Amino acid sequence: MTKLGVNIDHIATLRQARQALEPDPVAAAILAELAGADGITVHLRADRRHIRDGDVRRLRETVTTRLNLEMAATPEMVRLAADLHPDQATLVPERPEEITTEGGLDILVNPESIEAAIQELEAAGIQASLFIDPEPGQVDAAADLGASMIELNTRAYSEATPRSPDPAGDAFRRELTKVIQAAERGRKKGLKVLAGHGLTYRNVRPVSAIPEIEELNIGHNIIARAALVGLERAVREMLRAMNGAD
Ligand code: PXP
Repeated sequence: MTKLGVNIDHIATLRQARQALEPDPVAAAILAELAGADGITVHLRADRRHIRDGDVRRLRETVTTRLNLEMAATPEMVRLAADLHPDQATLVPERPEEITTEGGLDILVNPESIEAAIQELEAAGIQASLFIDPEPGQVDAAADLGASMIELNTRAYSEATPRSPDPAGDAFRRELTKVIQAAERGRKKGLKVLAGHGLTYRNVRPVSAIPEIEELNIGHNIIARAALVGLERAVREMLRAMNGAD
């Protein structure tokens, strides 16, 4: 069974739209866990546009599965992570104007700072994961840096998902193949392999069926459905879309 990490950033986006107290990401985390989520993910961005430091502190007290903190690989964020102490930290690239994370880390460009971040996180007892594009060079570089875990960026795959009822096109098959090959390569190199970004109830199954991928991180599509049907139901439906019947 592929595990599901639910990204609850957009619960905080809704709260921050009114700079109010509700909805509370901690309540969302509890409901997601009750519905079967295997982990809770939040992205603490430099601009604190949704999740705030206090949210991560309160989540640390309440999350009973695994808390995964997405963050930029900067010395300030690494220090903060050591203080907040999530179970896992996922290093992502961050551009201030972006609507959401745009691509994977380019490990080949600045390997020293990423290696330093991995070492500091692991020394603080936090498992480090690298969010990378499904490219052989990035997978190899992640293994060479001593990462224990990678999260493959499924954004291009998601963007190539055909609109029903179109048959799956070449671009979709090509992007899926890239994810499959990167997952196989990562596993061969001894990495734990996760994936995420842009996954939906419609396109999740071919990715969750890849045996090397242990866990998916999914946010926007679950929270969007939760706004209409409730979070517990939305999480259960995603688990069913990933793994078949309950
Ligand atoms: N994984 C990473 C590294 C991300 O940055 C995000 C978006 O915050 C996700 C997964 C989840 O993406 P989505 O919200 O599109 O499901």
